[in-house]
Amino acid sequence: MSVKSAALAALASAYKLNGLEAVPSVVRSTKPEFGDLQSNDMMRLAKATRKNARELAASVAAAACNDVFDDVSVAGPGFVNFRLSDEAIAAEATAMLGDPALGVAKEVPVRTVIDFGGPNVAKALHVGHLRSFVIGESLRRILVEIGHDVISDIHLGDWGLQMGKLLHGAAIASGWQNGDPVPFIEDFSFDGMSVGELGILYKSGNAASEDDTALATARLLTNMLQDGHPILTTAWRRMREISLDAVSATAGQLGAHFDLFLGESDAHSEVAPMLDDLVSRGLARESDGALVIDVSGDGLPDNVPPLLLRKSDGAALYGTTDLATMRRRVRDIGAQRIIYCTDDRQALHIGSVFSAARSAGYAHGIELRHATFGTVRGWDGKPFKTRDGSAASLSGMIELALAKAAEKVTDKDTATVVGLGALKFADLSIPRKTGYVFDIDRMTSFEGRTGPYLQYAYARICSILNKAASAGIVPSVKVSVSHPSERAVLVECLWYPYSLSEAARQLEPFEIAERAYQVADTFSRFYTDCTVLSGEDPPGRLATCKLVGQVIGKCLELLGMETVRRM
Ligand code: ARG
Repeated sequence: MSVKSAALAALASAYKLNGLEAVPSVVRSTKPEFGDLQSNDMMRLAKATRKNARELAASVAAAACNDVFDDVSVAGPGFVNFRLSDEAIAAEATAMLGDPALGVAKEVPVRTVIDFGGPNVAKALHVGHLRSFVIGESLRRILVEIGHDVISDIHLGDWGLQMGKLLHGAAIASGWQNGDPVPFIEDFSFDGMSVGELGILYKSGNAASEDDTALATARLLTNMLQDGHPILTTAWRRMREISLDAVSATAGQLGAHFDLFLGESDAHSEVAPMLDDLVSRGLARESDGALVIDVSGDGLPDNVPPLLLRKSDGAALYGTTDLATMRRRVRDIGAQRIIYCTDDRQALHIGSVFSAARSAGYAHGIELRHATFGTVRGWDGKPFKTRDGSAASLSGMIELALAKAAEKVTDKDTATVVGLGALKFADLSIPRKTGYVFDIDRMTSFEGRTGPYLQYAYARICSILNKAASAGIVPSVKVSVSHPSERAVLVECLWYPYSLSEAARQLEPFEIAERAYQVADTFSRFYTDCTVLSGEDPPGRLATCKLVGQVIGKCLELLGMETVRRM
């Protein structure tokens, strides 16, 4: 039972007793002096039943009293305030302490695919990928924790005209000249090449495409690759491998886990039958020689253009691979929910794909969600750039965070944990739709809502418990409430199961980050106000410390952050 459900249950029976037909609602009290929870239902119900709100509130409050609450009272125009009894807090906290799931009831498992960012072949990871990796990984952990069956897929951008341009770039590097017959680049060696070098090939191929003949060559190469030309396929596979190695290394450094390393190319065999299906059912239509499907709803604006499925030259597009990939995920993986973790600039694209999938019946009974996020900005308000003005590379940002952490923490391994934690917490401690300014000094500070602050709080609790262990003091298995500051930190802990279910429902890791912060913040007050080891009841207070450590540790794990036991 969560704190919230106790209040809801009390209200439900009070409504019944008062003949009110309404679904009760409660929120956390805005100020502790009002109690722990409050219901704002009465004003609305009074209007509907033509009663006086305060009188109604008084009879509801009287009927809602039970032993979970030591006070249910009325305030203002008719708010009903609930104050949890210390016994109920202690009982609930004790149950949490002995439960590895910390009081979380698992949800009915939903098979969920998370589409993670989709970095492109031959392009270095940049600042935008930081957010998709960090948010995507946290969502993965949150959904797994609450009982879902999650498959993460990197969804590599490895198909389409970009690949033709890249092959073209490789051809130019091996001496091919504009106007020569189509290059097969069989002699080109990719051995020892880095993604950075692939990026240079791509840039030269892309620049060459300014010229129409060269662009036609890139198109031809794309088509030949998509038709399975063996030499081009070998070259493409090598380039894909090099890119994937680099992506995996950075993702690994950030702790992002992918179950699948599929890409846009893996949907290729699905495209033709899918287009046939859409045409034969009259869902796709010709428009200026191209094949399109009309889209609407899904938060799309009224004048949204149709989704392009095939260009007049026969090439499949970004939306086509996304739609085809969705079909495969549903059919081959059994996805019941698909979450796309990309920035908000893709909202129109993703919304159009969702709408097309719905009208084609490909998403029947499937929950489609776009977990969008805002931009990481520099001080100028523009997308974060490195000093030389180019888009910041993800590895550069990681290096920056590690270097800053190393200035503050002497132990090398600890500095790595702190630097990466700082980067992740900064990304997750605001609602994901809000962007933020990349402020390395603030992020790595040991004060305020930061990763280092929370990691330090965790390490401090570990050291208290260690100290107790060496003094032979064992934490009690029972939690008790012996001081208002202890009560306050325990109440913050009790909100953890609710925060987790909200994080899963809204796809919002911020809920977990904020829970961790509130627990840590009230803990530091408790630790200032109450003696733990030399006080009256060390085992009891140690039980509180232990629970707090478990809650903070679990939250940090759900945010994809590592912890150290000493700092
Ligand atoms: N590869 C795309 C890009 O770099 C992002 C793909 C996002 N995922 C998706 N299913 N569309 O812009």
